[in-house]
Amino acid sequence: MNILLTGGAGYIGSHTALALMARGHQLVLVDNFSNSQPEVLKRLSNLSQGMPGSFDFHQLDICDAKALAAVFAAKAAAGQHFDAVIHFAGLKAVGESAREPLKYYQHNVAGTVTLLNVMQQYQVNCLVFSSSATVYGDPQSLPLTEQSPTGPQSVYGRSKFMVEHILADYCAANAAFSAVVLRYFNPVGAHPSGQLGEDPQGIPNNLLPFISQVAVGRREALTVFGNDYPTPDGTGVRDYIHVLDLADGHVRALEQLCNQAGQHLFNLGTGQGYSVLEMVEAFRQVSGHPIPLHFAPRRPGDVSACYADAGKARQQLGWQAQLNLTDMVSDTWRWQQQNPQGYRTANQAVGTAVEENADV
Ligand code: NAD
Ligand code: WQD
Repeated sequence: MNILLTGGAGYIGSHTALALMARGHQLVLVDNFSNSQPEVLKRLSNLSQGMPGSFDFHQLDICDAKALAAVFAAKAAAGQHFDAVIHFAGLKAVGESAREPLKYYQHNVAGTVTLLNVMQQYQVNCLVFSSSATVYGDPQSLPLTEQSPTGPQSVYGRSKFMVEHILADYCAANAAFSAVVLRYFNPVGAHPSGQLGEDPQGIPNNLLPFISQVAVGRREALTVFGNDYPTPDGTGVRDYIHVLDLADGHVRALEQLCNQAGQHLFNLGTGQGYSVLEMVEAFRQVSGHPIPLHFAPRRPGDVSACYADAGKARQQLGWQAQLNLTDMVSDTWRWQQQNPQGYRTANQAVGTAVEENADV
């Protein structure tokens, strides 16, 4: 298939691109590099050598309708068309979304509407969308099924939820359109080569990147937000899922559902929850490094526990997470050791370290 990946240079986009090329798909990646580095493209070129698929890249912002339309027009001029779009591009920092709501609605919501308009213009009728378990808000019961009550608690979460509604409305109005909404739980891990991984800019918001930066000596200690939750050890419980499993979920959803009109909604998680302290212990064992930590009050907006019922994806897509906690942690650790400053060059990294230290 010919597939457009927005946000294709990002963490989940780059891993999914590789999985799609391994299946022989022809890709066009677009990204504005607001949260990624051009170095990703070199790594993707190397890793995809010998694979049946291939990729092109265009640097653009999805809010720029003209630039986006030019990519579709170039495809048409080559006598081809996109069979589908996988839409990863978006902003994802929950705290920042409260401080800059308009930026989040612009990129995540308006950007998606711009994309849908261009898709409509070029009659591209399949979109796979990166949604999030955050749309469930504070769970009333666990595990979370796709039917569980929703109620996002952050601007970020609401931006994802709004797009889900927009896609439902567009499907209702366009009988040919297929929208696959994937609600990711907590993506972690890295490509086993150590060449692709998560490269947060500044201080990581998420748990595993923070732990791995402590293990590698880039940060002194982990702050554990809350040890008084109603969980077995008092710390927050989440459904961590390996990014390779997530990538495989996209491949299956795309290959099976793109010709089936309507909105399709799936949780992508493992169904298994781990606490913060269990994650720390797993990382300590795999890395052999101590992970100093201290406890602090709960982080505003955090829920006690969140994990998926992944039965629908298993039954309807034949998809099930294959990789376990040790895989997630050892792949993260390999990536962190091989790329202690992420994708940035040594020179850039010096600047970043100074900036970060000023913040800490
Ligand atoms: P990421 O930041 O690594 O990737 C997103 C990519 O989109 C980046 O490369 C960024 O430069 C690009 N981008 C952002 N705004 C853009 C714009 N306006 N135009 C063009 N490119 C733009 O994030 P990720 O972890 O790979 O997440 C991918 C998607 O999955 C996001 O939509 C995110 O909200 C969603 N998601 C992520 C998680 C998670 O924990 N990682 C969980 C649930 C959902
Ligand atoms: C996991 C656990 C924290 C950092 C967020 C977004 C969600 C989705 C995934 C995009 C919690 C604890 C964390 C730290 C800690 N992203 N923690 N110290 O909050 O489940 O989800 O990322 O869609 O929308 O909200 O993930 O990794 O931030 O936190 O103690 O320095 O680790 O309190 O219990 P979360 P997380």
